[in-house]
Amino acid sequence: MENHSQNGTEAPLKVSTLNCIDLSNPDIHQSVSLLKQACLDCGFFYVINHGISQEFMDEVFAQSKNLFHLPLNEKMKLLRNEKHRGYTPVLDELLDPDNQVHVGDYKEGYYIGVEVPEDDPDAEKPFYGPNVWPEDGVVPGWRQTMEKFHHEALEVAKAVARVIALALDLDVDFFDKPEMLGKPIATLRLLHYEGQVSDPSKGIYGAGAHSDYGLITLLATDDVMGLQICRDKDAKPQIWEYVAPIKGAFIVNLGDMLERWSNCIFKSTLHRVLGNGQERYSIAYFVEPSHDCLVECLPTCKSEDNPPKFPPIRCATYLSQRYKDTHAELSVYNNHQT
Ligand code: OGA
Ligand code: NI
Repeated sequence: MENHSQNGTEAPLKVSTLNCIDLSNPDIHQSVSLLKQACLDCGFFYVINHGISQEFMDEVFAQSKNLFHLPLNEKMKLLRNEKHRGYTPVLDELLDPDNQVHVGDYKEGYYIGVEVPEDDPDAEKPFYGPNVWPEDGVVPGWRQTMEKFHHEALEVAKAVARVIALALDLDVDFFDKPEMLGKPIATLRLLHYEGQVSDPSKGIYGAGAHSDYGLITLLATDDVMGLQICRDKDAKPQIWEYVAPIKGAFIVNLGDMLERWSNCIFKSTLHRVLGNGQERYSIAYFVEPSHDCLVECLPTCKSEDNPPKFPPIRCATYLSQRYKDTHAELSVYNNHQT
């Protein structure tokens, strides 16, 4: 709360220039160098020619709209479960409790993870389990579209992770191992910002300032500006820059687990979403390693002079804590459950 006046005097905003990684570029050294520079600098970059067609992206956005256009009582039937799957209503999430007053984020969302059937022993683990799907016919073709996107986005994430591995002087397939992205916790999250005007001086945001939790996040947005990054979270006042959407590109950012893995050599950057009164849709794909993966300082990121800054931590332990810190208790929705 003390930070309000600080936010009220934020410097004027500019649009950020980010490096662009072309996944179809045969010159891998060039891609590694562009990506490395971006990761050392601000942890945000664009990825183009990633293999997901524009037609299919348009379909995913159209299906996302179909879901959010359902009446609230229909959406509440799909309310997220304790496995973090399903619908998250407006104000469910509070990403930045110091700066967001009495309310949460002005966005609604829908989480879809890797489908693990209830009778699979893995379903006992907190982040694996069955998804919540609308009943057949409520939004025709919805599940197929989302499952296909989930699958294709994972391939993009793996391709990006190979370039990241090279940029960290690791084997190209470092993140492909079974305990890493072989059995990932990967969450597709559809987001809808309803057209609220944000006001940082009042603590009202589309999405409050946060960094993402995992390895990387792929983000696709419509053409409404809203995403902002802050390169130096300790600067006073903080300086925020817009990240412009590029048609067909993913905006990719590094998460906190990669910051831990890389001993803070690679940056997981603070970002937020400001609403300008226009409705906005975005699609985030959060990529984390397997449940039991131990996230510990990489051999190439430590030395005698630069010892590990964080103790090793199990992926699921870390993630559970981060979700708990930022989401409402499910019991607040008891009145809606019939
Ligand atoms: C997120 C996020 C940005 C956006 O969901 O973590 O940063 O543009 N989203 O919706
Ligand atoms: Ni984010």
